[in-house]
Amino acid sequence: MALRHAWLRQYPYSPPMCGIVGYVGGRPCRDLLVAGLEKLEYRGYDSAGISLLTDGHVETVRAVGNLSNLRAAIGLDADTPVSAEGGVAVATPPATIGLGHTRWATHGRVTEENAHPHGDCTGDVHIVLNGIVENHTELRRELVDSGHQFTSETDAEIVAHMIEKHYDGDLTAAVRAAFAELRGHYAFVAMHASHPDTLVAARQECPLIVGIGDGETFVASAIPAFLAHTRKVLGMKNGEIVTVTPDGARIVEVDSTQVDRDVEEVTWDEEAAEKGGYPTFMLKEIHEQPGAVAETIADRLPEIDRVDLSEIELEPEFVRSLRRIVIVACGTSYHAGLVGRYAIEQWARIPVEIDIASEYRYRDPVVGPDDLVIGITQSGETADTLAAMRLARDRGARVMALTNIMGSQATRDADTVLYTRAGLEIGVAATKTFTAQTAAMYLLGLWLAQTQEAWPREKIAEVVAELKGIPSKIGTTLTAVDERVRAIARSHAKRDFFLYLGRNIGLPVCLEGALKMKEISYIPTDAYAAGEMKHGPIALLDESTPVVCVATDSPILEKVLSNVAEVRARGADVIAIATEGNIEVEQVADQTLYVPATDWVLQPILAILPLQLLAYYVARLNDLNVDQPRNLAKTVTVE
Ligand code: AGP
Repeated sequence: MALRHAWLRQYPYSPPMCGIVGYVGGRPCRDLLVAGLEKLEYRGYDSAGISLLTDGHVETVRAVGNLSNLRAAIGLDADTPVSAEGGVAVATPPATIGLGHTRWATHGRVTEENAHPHGDCTGDVHIVLNGIVENHTELRRELVDSGHQFTSETDAEIVAHMIEKHYDGDLTAAVRAAFAELRGHYAFVAMHASHPDTLVAARQECPLIVGIGDGETFVASAIPAFLAHTRKVLGMKNGEIVTVTPDGARIVEVDSTQVDRDVEEVTWDEEAAEKGGYPTFMLKEIHEQPGAVAETIADRLPEIDRVDLSEIELEPEFVRSLRRIVIVACGTSYHAGLVGRYAIEQWARIPVEIDIASEYRYRDPVVGPDDLVIGITQSGETADTLAAMRLARDRGARVMALTNIMGSQATRDADTVLYTRAGLEIGVAATKTFTAQTAAMYLLGLWLAQTQEAWPREKIAEVVAELKGIPSKIGTTLTAVDERVRAIARSHAKRDFFLYLGRNIGLPVCLEGALKMKEISYIPTDAYAAGEMKHGPIALLDESTPVVCVATDSPILEKVLSNVAEVRARGADVIAIATEGNIEVEQVADQTLYVPATDWVLQPILAILPLQLLAYYVARLNDLNVDQPRNLAKTVTVE
């Protein structure tokens, strides 16, 4: 389903981290804010908070955990439905202006101090922020040097102090001046104790929508936060600042140029709004991949030839003398590990072993203090992966968790953690967490090469430059291949078997593409190393077999193409994934789907996209529930 509102699609990515909401109007707003946050909880749920302004005084309540903890902290019984009409406010008299936030931690641990809203030194300015301020280190240093005192470890708190620094009676001007000094991708809303009828918000890459009500105005990360109160919306663009009052909103650019924008009427129902206008969470999450990858690599590539993974708590001596890496994982996470193996071996020249966690834990593995064992698990709760990590740890290995969930069991069991920042994934089939994990493995491979001085800086710089371009290439690929993938899905939706073939770095892409197809379409698939075909699987082929070949550019592309020719000679229908500009592939395949050129080791993060879409459209054509496929659970906490 196409999005009806073009402005929702106009940015290269929209990172799915944290939910923000602000209200100014005539009603007590505490419960309105909590109700809005409940609609945004899918964006993050490790802590939450609200700030209410009344009588020139701001009261803030924050709580670690999901929203039920915040409800308890403000005296709303967890079983009491939140009233859309207001309710007993924390503040007396009830506040009619306030901010709310639900957090998915990026900078700073999950603590009450790090939960939003954040204030300045005076307690007058309060802000909620979604996203990442990339130049937070230098800004914090300057602010501390000029006497500002911080109460959290977050990059977000900087924004409150920046507004304080620039404030001289005009909140919009102060936000504009602060905004001009920030780098990164974020959206924030600011409130000031001296302005009881004004909120000021700004957007740079992260979503921000204004809801125009009757004598009240909302500003939020997403429409569901206020859809129960108004359907009139104003979409914000990058580089814009909006001043919100009960009577409406006034948008300016950072240089003060006034922006005229028409109010639009949203026609979605609530369920469609939660899916951002997409028919399913899975498709929404497929399209969130540019943001998930951008968030994951963002501030970890601070220079053109350097990777910063200072969050990894391993002594440099250990990393330098590392003998071997062992990766353990299940399902899609295992496939991301397979891609990571190629990257680490190629760039850092460290031997990598990888095993399915449920196998590893029972095979009495040889592992010890010279080994780094990496458990990849988006949920951080997969029983087999946790058991494999614990086993390795008991035998003296150092253990790293690569996960998407702060505070998950994997983070508690590991010596150190590397986070993906994909935001909450609701669809059972992993999509954006796969590309975020793959991006994190690339970062790790480069970081190991850099730490071990295994590769020249110029080589690292070349890959860093390519990696930075990946989020926008993901966005363009998803748009470019969509129509053709739908057509291919239409011609193959009723097949009873799909074979996936690839070699080297293309093989994990095949394994992942085949897993996507079987788990959501229930069509049997096999994924095989193309060179292994003639040792058995070639017997499966006939004219009715669609064969998906990953034939992106690589040093062994020629070999892949010979295998494609063998398959074609048996009458199979070849669907090839190739690198843009390589017309050689087109000559041996029946249908070719192109992905943009990049460093060959990075190709999997693009090559998987058409295969996710192919599985998706085949399943939808068969009328299946792609978000909740039969027999599967999002998190597998049992053996
Ligand atoms: C993939 O689409 C599945 N949802 C599944 O294979 C998943 O990747 C596996 O269960 C591992 O989960 P984890 O990453 O949370 O450990």
